[in-house]
Amino acid sequence: KEDVPTTIVVFGASGDLAKKKTFPALFHLFQRSLLPKRLSIIGYARTHMSPEEFHKRVTSHFGEDVDKKSVANFLQLCTYFSGKYDVADDFRSLRKEIEDREKKMKPGGSGNRVHVYYMALPPSMFVDVATQLKNNVYDDSCTNRLVIEKPFGHDLKSSRVLSKEIGSLFEENEIFRIDHYLGKEMVKNILTLRFANVFYEAVWNRHYISNVQITFKEPFGTEGRGGYFDEFGIIRDVMQNHMLQVLSIVAMTQPQSLDAEDVRDRKTEVLQRILPIQLEDTMLGQYVASIDGSKPGYKDDDTVPKDSITPTFAQCVLHVDNDRWRGVPWVIKAGKALNEAKMLIRIQYKDMPNSLFPNLARNELVIQVSPKESVYIKTIVKEPGLSTNLAMSELDLTYKTRYHDISIPDAYATLILDVLNGDHSDFVRSDELDEAWRIFTPLLHKIERERVEPLPYEYGSRGPEGAYQFVEDRVGYKRTGLEYHWEAPE
Ligand code: BG6
Repeated sequence: KEDVPTTIVVFGASGDLAKKKTFPALFHLFQRSLLPKRLSIIGYARTHMSPEEFHKRVTSHFGEDVDKKSVANFLQLCTYFSGKYDVADDFRSLRKEIEDREKKMKPGGSGNRVHVYYMALPPSMFVDVATQLKNNVYDDSCTNRLVIEKPFGHDLKSSRVLSKEIGSLFEENEIFRIDHYLGKEMVKNILTLRFANVFYEAVWNRHYISNVQITFKEPFGTEGRGGYFDEFGIIRDVMQNHMLQVLSIVAMTQPQSLDAEDVRDRKTEVLQRILPIQLEDTMLGQYVASIDGSKPGYKDDDTVPKDSITPTFAQCVLHVDNDRWRGVPWVIKAGKALNEAKMLIRIQYKDMPNSLFPNLARNELVIQVSPKESVYIKTIVKEPGLSTNLAMSELDLTYKTRYHDISIPDAYATLILDVLNGDHSDFVRSDELDEAWRIFTPLLHKIERERVEPLPYEYGSRGPEGAYQFVEDRVGYKRTGLEYHWEAPE
């Protein structure tokens, strides 16, 4: 890559996102020499901090055995700037700081510098900060990139207001909306699996696929951030964004090229073919204390209103109404405080036509995003040995056993690298965002208007009673049989 003088300003530099994700990701890239050679990183926040305090905070999530020298070299690039988010003078001083540091980088002429403004901030501040940036810092002689992260609004209307306000300040091609699921290894891999392997794509349609499930399970509740979560609920927290994004990649047709706009066009087309989700096609849940009482219920959190109806679990059935998918039900399911941590995509194929064998189980392709990245295909074989019985087995690609010397980067490292390279493929375009809200807004409004009570489920359980039956009944998912269980190989 060309060596372009680059400045990254991290707003909200004293906050959690910056500490846990942004700075560790930057350091990860620095260690692998993937950051621009001429680089300055400026942390910006309201808190007054000495450089030492800032350094301590920035490095607090770099891990145990990091190379001290490397950390020291990285910190040389970083400086802290304390300022308010709505005071023009503070932003003018920021501009001066950027310019001073740029001079030290010896930019060879003007026109090719890059300024990245990374908002590790609550969305209520996006517009204030973007306005100040545009008025007092924005330099149109360089490439400007604005990085923001969900929640983008609360529903279709508020999201449109936010998009309009930000859109009046920055061009769409300057905006990078992070959905960190798009930076995950196995999510990035879907496009390759599908469009680089003839045998996947050949059967990737309604003629062969019976149903698709996309599942997100977390084994912990909202402990500590219940008050925040209560404003959103699981649908806004992960379904409207992460899960729909994954769905759109699984369902899309092949883009004309790998260019960001071609990829995003195809993803948007999928969303356009999904009707708003109905309450009748949805199951909602909220967790209560664990059976043994050791884990609290959602409403036991003091910051959660006692009469909260906010779902911490939801599953819904939807359809993608196009030639490829007509008639295939999709289930998206997400829950907190469940029995395990898992994010996966499960594609169940149809029954074998004209089968020689009675009562065959179905093939499934499972892409496990986390934990333990893997792809496996549930495959029926003859039971090994003298037996002629059939057995369910699998073709298994578990990354840990197949690839020994790789470290899979955190999604944020991947995405920040994309921002530095100006690649929008794995960022959400404004029309995709709009479609995603269109799909969920009527349901969200109905739940709130009619105060639909979620079903209770115990912390650590598999979800509300009937959750699995719901999937079998509604989408015709056929269980393989209780004896089959896939475990990632050690
Ligand atoms: C976030 C949600 O976007 O994603 C959290 O707000 C959730 O509630 C998190 O825990 C899950 O991300 P990951 O990368 O841990 O699967």
